[in-house]
Amino acid sequence: MKTGCIILAGGAGTRMKSEKPKVLCEVLKKPMLGWVMDAAEDFGFDVTAVVTGYKSELTEEYVRSRGEYPTYLQTEQKGTGDAVKRAAAVAEQTDIVCVLCGDAPFIDGDTLRGSLEQHKQSGAAVTVISAEVENPAGYGRIIREGGKFLAIREQKDCSPEEAKICEVNSGAYWFDSKALLEALPKLSTKNAAGEYYLTDCIEIIGNACAYKSDNPDIVLGANTRQSLYELNEKARKKVLYGLMEQGVSFITLDGIIISPDVRIGCDTTVFPNTVILGNTEIGSGCEIGANSHIENCTIGNNVKLNNVQAYSAVVEDNVTVGPFAQLRPGTVIRRGVKIGDFVEIKNSDIGENTSVAHLTYLGDSDVGRGVNFGCGCVTANYDGINKFRTEIGDHAFIGCNTNLIAPVKVGENAATAAGSTITKPVPPNSLAVERGATRIIENWEKNFKRKKKI
Ligand code: UD1
Ligand code: CA
Repeated sequence: MKTGCIILAGGAGTRMKSEKPKVLCEVLKKPMLGWVMDAAEDFGFDVTAVVTGYKSELTEEYVRSRGEYPTYLQTEQKGTGDAVKRAAAVAEQTDIVCVLCGDAPFIDGDTLRGSLEQHKQSGAAVTVISAEVENPAGYGRIIREGGKFLAIREQKDCSPEEAKICEVNSGAYWFDSKALLEALPKLSTKNAAGEYYLTDCIEIIGNACAYKSDNPDIVLGANTRQSLYELNEKARKKVLYGLMEQGVSFITLDGIIISPDVRIGCDTTVFPNTVILGNTEIGSGCEIGANSHIENCTIGNNVKLNNVQAYSAVVEDNVTVGPFAQLRPGTVIRRGVKIGDFVEIKNSDIGENTSVAHLTYLGDSDVGRGVNFGCGCVTANYDGINKFRTEIGDHAFIGCNTNLIAPVKVGENAATAAGSTITKPVPPNSLAVERGATRIIENWEKNFKRKKKI
């Protein structure tokens, strides 16, 4: 049996007041459409297609970033029924089609598998996934008679009695492909919104079932910034509680935002005001935060990051960084390294047990093991046109306020004297001094005349 999935992502989302399509509005820094695509990927459909519409180029760009998915363009937003019509080719290629809403991010693979099971057993031609919610406002209501599922009534078309029903349509359905293809041409715009409602397929097909999920969250969608905030808050708590189950500690959840794809090992503690995003993996026994932003990083075990910004960097075991340090893309910090305050490292490899303790910039550098940087060292990697690399051998000692003008190489066990500007290679085991001789001018007259504060 061949399965297809059509994700509806064409709507403008006027109430969101955004320049971008609503489905690209983010929950925990991931577009809502991305969450829905995750659920589809988890299920593993034979074909998954996305219907785009409003500002389709933006939606298509996101879809492309996720892989090879067919997209269908809905030129005018004439309703969910019309959107599915655009992607009718999916039904033509498959036996069974699942329709999902790109603005309902909490649908998941388990719910899809459970509902498909019921769909097959019941013999229904269409199964809608529903749930009981506290506040049904805005959702289509599930109309039953004597328990039997008859129809979905949109909020705008509900009688006052129907409006009180709390079982609502999640916007996710299973259709036998043939029944869907037969029903789509029969949809009309005779309703309060003047749109082609996909939900009318239930009455048209007749042989319909509702799969009531135990998890009311799966229906939650966001049409406004307020509900987007509520989804964020719900997702945030869910991710943090999930991490606690895996042994991650939080003393407080204040200001902690961790996106759903982040993996963290046991006995790691995350401190307040810390944001961890993207494809980030953190090992066990770490202290992350406070006030840190970690994005697309791989962090080892027993690492301490205090007031750190880190982007696309790798940090190995037993490293401490911070406070007030930045690791920029392409940086690898090897085991046992100590990085202190006001240090920035970009596109560099810092060898084991090296210490970069204070006020230093290292860019485009390859640094060996056991190197010591004094305070205020700078690799001058950019001449305004090109970038050059600096190479520093094992156990070198870089004196305070050294400028290393790249391309330049400092050999193993070599040292630079404090205040030196190094432009030539420094051979191993040698000391490079680049410093004017001190001149003493005694009894300097101005000094006597200067007004001194007591
Ligand atoms: C829809 C359902 C409602 C259900 C709710 C669940 C209909 C008529 N109503 O209402 O029963 O409770 O979802 O969230 O289906 N879209 C298009 N093209 C269009 C219109 C919409 O691609 O012309 C897409 C939107 O981008 C969105 C999805 O379809 O991702 C749902 O559309 P939306 O307008 O948000 O429907 P709701 O009013 O929420
Ligand atoms: Ca919606």
